[in-house]
Amino acid sequence: MAEAASRGSGDDVSVQRVPEKKRKPLTPDQMAVSRRMFLNRAWTATFATFLGFFGMSTLSFLWPKLSGGFGTAITVGDAAEILKQVGPDGGYKPLFNPEGRFWLTYYDGTGDSPVYAAVGATELKIQALYRKCVHLGCSVPHCSKSMLFECPCHGSKYRLHGEYYGGPAPRGLDRFPVSVAAGKLVVDTGALEVGPPRGTNTWDKFAEPVGSLCVPT
Ligand code: FES
Repeated sequence: MAEAASRGSGDDVSVQRVPEKKRKPLTPDQMAVSRRMFLNRAWTATFATFLGFFGMSTLSFLWPKLSGGFGTAITVGDAAEILKQVGPDGGYKPLFNPEGRFWLTYYDGTGDSPVYAAVGATELKIQALYRKCVHLGCSVPHCSKSMLFECPCHGSKYRLHGEYYGGPAPRGLDRFPVSVAAGKLVVDTGALEVGPPRGTNTWDKFAEPVGSLCVPT
């Protein structure tokens, strides 16, 4: 429909108004297709979001913690004090460190196995034994009666200094290097050393249980 309008100047200006096209309503088939497309896109977006979150949380779980904790060098405390606690003065009682998952134990053996030099045990008279059983990975507690580490899962036994004593374990407990910096004992839990093989016996004092076993064989 055309419409003419007069302005103050007196010129006639024609304004053409284009008739609006009437949109055709969608057919049921078209509506079904567009609903399906919407749902498909919504599902794709939801799935992509889920995958994104899942990927990020997996990565954050696997990423090594670089600011302390297990997998890093842990400063345990005053080296002389710890040596006193775990040595003869303290009755050779091992000290557990939950942050690093290791047992600190006294060592006064011959060091006649390469691993002792690798972890600095002979020099410092102290060891950091990883508490994870080398059989199938259970946490190994210390038995104060026998003075052995005795695995509750399948009965593997390790001496105070982590050497293999009995059970299905293939070797002695794995361990971490120890060092002293500014008088503090430092355990590097990022540099695991494989334990000594079966048959290693480098310290007579705790070669045999000193009392009854906590986990009978
Ligand atoms: S996991 Fe320790 S003996 Fe099997």
